[in-house]
Amino acid sequence: MTLEYFLKVVRMRWITVCSVALIGVLTAVIIILTTTPIYQATTRLFVSTSTGLSNSDLYQGNRLSQDRVMSYTELIMGQTLAQRTIDKLGLDMDAAALRENVKAKAKSGTVLINVQVRDQSPVRARDIANALSNEFVAMVSELESPTNGGPPNARVIVEQRAAVPERPVVPRTKQVLAFGLGLGVLLGIAAAVLREVLDNTIKTRENVEDSAGVGVVGSIPLDKKRRTEPAISFGRDHSPIAESFRALRTNLQFLSVDNPPRVIVITSSVPGEGKSTTAINLALALAEAGNRVALVDGDLRRPAIHKYLELVGTVGFSTVLSGGTSLADALQPTSFDGLTVLAAGVRPPNPSELLGSRAAQALLDELRTDFDFVIVDSAPLLAVTDAAILSAAADGAFMVVRFGSTKRDQLAHSVQTLADVGREPMGVVFTLVPAKAAGPYGYNYSYYGADSAPELEREPDTA
Ligand SMILES: Nc1ncnc2c1ncn2[C@@H]1O[C@H](COP(=O)(O)OP(=O)(O)OP(=O)(O)O)[C@@H](O)[C@H]1O
Ligand SMILES: [Mg+2]
Repeated sequence: MTLEYFLKVVRMRWITVCSVALIGVLTAVIIILTTTPIYQATTRLFVSTSTGLSNSDLYQGNRLSQDRVMSYTELIMGQTLAQRTIDKLGLDMDAAALRENVKAKAKSGTVLINVQVRDQSPVRARDIANALSNEFVAMVSELESPTNGGPPNARVIVEQRAAVPERPVVPRTKQVLAFGLGLGVLLGIAAAVLREVLDNTIKTRENVEDSAGVGVVGSIPLDKKRRTEPAISFGRDHSPIAESFRALRTNLQFLSVDNPPRVIVITSSVPGEGKSTTAINLALALAEAGNRVALVDGDLRRPAIHKYLELVGTVGFSTVLSGGTSLADALQPTSFDGLTVLAAGVRPPNPSELLGSRAAQALLDELRTDFDFVIVDSAPLLAVTDAAILSAAADGAFMVVRFGSTKRDQLAHSVQTLADVGREPMGVVFTLVPAKAAGPYGYNYSYYGADSAPELEREPDTA
């Protein structure tokens, strides 16, 4: 797992990363909002010792003060001073509770003591800090006064009094937020990598070859416009999706050069993988190159071609097979040059039986004679046997695989379904490939050319 791999995964699964990071930040916000704020007030005490006036006396005095400072910090945090402060302020707490919130610190080599008092109320924190410091001054004066009278040996001055703290010390908003975000991002990346590892959908050429045993012959990008307008206007369209269908058309020429397939079934494993859209646009791409193309809706259960191309749906494949209409009457011309459509017709009670009939074979043969290419849309292989039956009657089948959606075992199963009728798919057509997939998964159009058939990439598009 290289850094590059992590970056790819993060790029492909940025929604996961961002969601988990957001959860981290929200958790931090909740922690901040539910934590009772604690304020801290600070005073500074100065310790001095009474000495003579000579230099050595001053030095001695300073040393003595430094020695005392250590003991004083203990006294400040002690039980006696806590109780005296409570009594002085009339606080409703016991000495042990107050002691927990008092810290005294002295820097070695100095005669200064910092006293920190924490409390839920900023005003009370200040009051306690000041009262405690005052009490300590009094306490030292009592302790250090010689019993026989005379000036005390040491003295403490409150050098800096406490003010009301403006901001709480707990919770530390910025740190908690930064920690929440950091942890969220890390967990987000971990979740993204985990999802990637557990993901058994098909995203690479290797996935396809492992599951289907055949190569990828086309990669159709995701193009939102196709949802409202399934058919591409080939003549003037040079968008990536139009080019991808032209590339598929070119690749088709190189399959079985000696016996080029002309009746081609478009199928897939499960519903919604883009079969009908692919069938329409492959037919249009072939028509663009000057071929006479018949597009047949072989999905008699959930026909879509007539809807996508705004044609009549009640007359077509099934009505010709049942003898209700002649083929010539059922074929519908379209607004696209070179494209004729045979819609599905009314839904028969026995689609599989009808598609397996000799009449169906004869119909396809008739179309083969009249047209250069016959493209047959079909039902998903894992749902019903219709597509397998149609494939057996056709020259070959393209297996549509929806990028990042079709699962490896589904593809393997549907290839097996075709194998059961003695067919192997001519190749896999990846559909709905997101634009950014070209990078992370090493997946783009030139890749076919670069990897499997270098000459294809440079081949002029003249199918
Ligand atoms: N390349 C594409 N880019 C964007 N959307 C697409 C593309 N191909 C197909 N779609 C959309 O995906 C959905 C399913 O497509 P389509 O009907 O072609 O699939 P299907 O495999 O024939 O489905 P069914 O199994 O139901 O017949 C449709 O809404 C269609 O517009
Ligand atoms: Mg369909």
